Amino acid sequence: MTDQKATNITWHEHSVSKQERWNLSGHRGAVLWFTGLSASGKSTVANTVDHQLHALGKRSFVLDGDNIRMGLNKNLGFSAEDRAENIRRIGEVGKLFVNAGVIAITAFISPYRRDRDAVRALLGEGEFIEIYMNASLATCEARDPKGLYKKARAGQLKGFTGIDDPYEAPEKPELVLDGDNKSIDELADDVLKYLQNHHLLSL
Ligand code: ADX
Repeated sequence: MTDQKATNITWHEHSVSKQERWNLSGHRGAVLWFTGLSASGKSTVANTVDHQLHALGKRSFVLDGDNIRMGLNKNLGFSAEDRAENIRRIGEVGKLFVNAGVIAITAFISPYRRDRDAVRALLGEGEFIEIYMNASLATCEARDPKGLYKKARAGQLKGFTGIDDPYEAPEKPELVLDGDNKSIDELADDVLKYLQNHHLLSL
């Protein structure tokens, strides 16, 4: 938990309500929270889902770990504290998107259950959809698109998730994706089906 630092500030109620913004979008706002190891396919599936939602006329936006860490979160590293702050900020940004009537799709390793649960608690009922990209370490390491697993194994990169830093898989995610056996298109379809079955694409 981050303490409130500023004093003499007042919360302003928005004059346009969340419901009115959702009505304009034609669907609810939500956060599709992808979690999983590096190279598990979070960003790729997130972007595919984003394209499909856009094509369907839904408002969506991807927030991706590697990109956000170059801007909003450029002052954060990979210690447990920094990862917690990374996730806390993304949770807050996700909430703004929900209030704006947008489906935010986030792709962060978010290795700690506690940090993810804090985001769940920040959002309203049904607004946080935790999607576990379940790809084994062996799969991710075989892909190794950025050569980071190789570096970590060689001891040139310390505290790498899955090698010498923990990853806590979700206990009750809304959706588990089979990242070992399914193609990107199949995984994106699984997400789309979930959204349709749970009436997240219409009011
Ligand atoms: S998180 O743990 O705080 O959620 P985030 O998803 O933002 O991580 O960033 C992960 C990305 O940063 C990885 O895909 C990888 O490209 C890069 N990275 C660099 N160092 C590390 C590290 N020590 N552990 C995990 N990822 C790292």
